[in-house]
Amino acid sequence: TQSSGEVARMKNLNIIEMGEFQVEPWYFSPYPTETAYVPILYICEFCLCYYTNHKQYERHRTKCTLQHPPGNEIYRKDDISFFEIDGRRQKMYCRNLCLISKCFLDHKTLYYDVDPFLFYILTKNDDRGCHIIGYFSKEKESADNYNLACILTLPQYQRMGYGRVLMQFSYELSKAEGKEGSPEKPLSDLGLLSYRAFWSEVLVELLVGFDGEVSIDDLSNMTSFTTQDILHALFSLDAIRYYHGQHCIVLSERVIEQYERFKKKKLRRIDPTCLKWTPKV
Ligand code: ACO
Ligand code: ZN
Repeated sequence: TQSSGEVARMKNLNIIEMGEFQVEPWYFSPYPTETAYVPILYICEFCLCYYTNHKQYERHRTKCTLQHPPGNEIYRKDDISFFEIDGRRQKMYCRNLCLISKCFLDHKTLYYDVDPFLFYILTKNDDRGCHIIGYFSKEKESADNYNLACILTLPQYQRMGYGRVLMQFSYELSKAEGKEGSPEKPLSDLGLLSYRAFWSEVLVELLVGFDGEVSIDDLSNMTSFTTQDILHALFSLDAIRYYHGQHCIVLSERVIEQYERFKKKKLRRIDPTCLKWTPKV
């Protein structure tokens, strides 16, 4: 038996179309009832407004002048940018973003109240505009020292290293703030897999290049990762050993090989010198 609550939360969208992509949502998202259950929901990839029929959508596209997310561009390198958007000033855009995001997140409660958040939108740029790849949100003030509330790579861009770019960017902001940070809990399965991989890669890279003694606190200062997340990553690599009465970090052959393979992928990285941003006080 299902409660009415469960029925209402069954997946309600068939296909969403954004720019040149069509994707099938994974989970329920609270779009208005009259909007859901259509064969295709058309979403403007720039302003994120949604339409149930193609004619209306086309009409909108002839009028919509936006060619990038409606905020300040705070990072650009090669064909990649980040835009910072204040939930209080761009409520509609941020609510629409949360609706899209909920399609791929099972466990998050959707915030209609977007005011307390900043949204960082990652785009890929060409002569037609800056196309959204993914984003993360961040509380303006986090009592728990979270540096990221919610992260999403749109499904058509997943497994290409953009999740790492988003995570890296969130820690660059924390470094600029002179703070350590951690993503909001609980993490989704994909969130945990991706963060664990990311923390491990960053730490192994630092450790491989390191000569001499380094403490967990040193690693935390260099990365803005919390000591808890650092320990989580090092345990997952089986890199914490107990020798002669003290704990040591030991990278096994397997871990080094894995790191060498990772390096060969030549993934995109954030260049901190291209970040034009200072923390608001
Ligand atoms: N299966 C196995 N490993 C995975 C998978 C997967 N489906 N996805 C990511 N990983 C791991 C891999 O180690 C991967 O590296 P690899 O591709 O070189 O093997 C690594 O994570 C990072 O992959 P990226 O390509 O950098 O990450 P991606 O762009 O796919 O984004 C993200 C990751 C944001 C978690 C994405 O899966 C997503 O949007 N999921 C849906 C929303 C979600 O669950 N968000 C996290 C919620 S928790 C929170 O918001 C605080
Ligand atoms: Zn539009």
